[in-house]
Amino acid sequence: MNKPRVLVLKKLPQEVEQYISDHCEIIQASSETHSLEQLKQLLSDVDGLLQSGLTIDEELLKHASRLKIVSNVSVGYNNFDTDAMKKYGVIGTHTPDVLDDTVADLVLALMLAAARRTAELDSMVKQGKWDQLKGDEELFGTDVHHATLGIIGMGRIGEAVAKRAKFGFDMNILYANRNRKPEAEEKYGAQYRTQEQLLRESDFVVVMAPLTAYTHQLIGKEQFQMMKPTAIFINASRGQLVDEKALIKALKEGLIQAAALDVFEQEPVDPNNPLLAMSNVVTLPHIGSATAKTRFDMAMMAAHNVVAGVTGDSPRNIVPELKPISL
Ligand code: DGY
Repeated sequence: MNKPRVLVLKKLPQEVEQYISDHCEIIQASSETHSLEQLKQLLSDVDGLLQSGLTIDEELLKHASRLKIVSNVSVGYNNFDTDAMKKYGVIGTHTPDVLDDTVADLVLALMLAAARRTAELDSMVKQGKWDQLKGDEELFGTDVHHATLGIIGMGRIGEAVAKRAKFGFDMNILYANRNRKPEAEEKYGAQYRTQEQLLRESDFVVVMAPLTAYTHQLIGKEQFQMMKPTAIFINASRGQLVDEKALIKALKEGLIQAAALDVFEQEPVDPNNPLLAMSNVVTLPHIGSATAKTRFDMAMMAAHNVVAGVTGDSPRNIVPELKPISL
């Protein structure tokens, strides 16, 4: 019997590739080297797709009559048009849990980098400008320990951030979320606030929510106006949660002190984006989950999902909106 065919749009670790090819025929391509038209062509003749980032909508699905499953190598699945996937009976999976601690580590790194100005001062030292300082004050930063941290979106990653902030830095934790999280309140002393209260009270504001129609541009002009002028804003979830123009204006006008961003509205970020020229903004190239071990675990989880989906088993990590679909 012919093996099911899986289109893989990512470079996978050898062991992961081996696992898939034990069960399926792999067709390897990539969104960088193949046009959308070429990808549609390839999709017309496969049972599964393993990838991250490609928009899975009606336009794509109507070319994919054999397709049973799209397995994202990411926890975020804002690239899924879940209504269209339901209509075409295509399952969508993602990679939750395995990256929580890794992303939370990066959030702390962003907080520390912005507060203690580590990227800015690293570049000052490397440019040989240390001896040009006029006084110690030029090196002063902001304390992270004992400050108030506001987390917008208290999911698994939000909780992992709260844990580090509470036990590592004695921070006072506030959170805003659709539902109260009694366990997080008990474990980390996290206090529930409305979003507005949180923005007004926090020294550090971290957005850690998935991108949905509700969270799109959740943070804009009005929200920056509510923040303290000393506030440090951190985004490691999705760039579209923030109105980037409003962020740039808020930083220019001193509505907030600094920002640290792992994600942008457009990725890779436009080299002319004004945020890149601001010394009080830390910028990273969307590396929240990017450690060798975590990326391996994510790839293996995505591989298990796609193999299950094309061989008639139920994948473990179907996204909530598509859970009722059965093979
Ligand atoms: C995720 O898994 O969603 C990370 O942001 C990488 O895209």
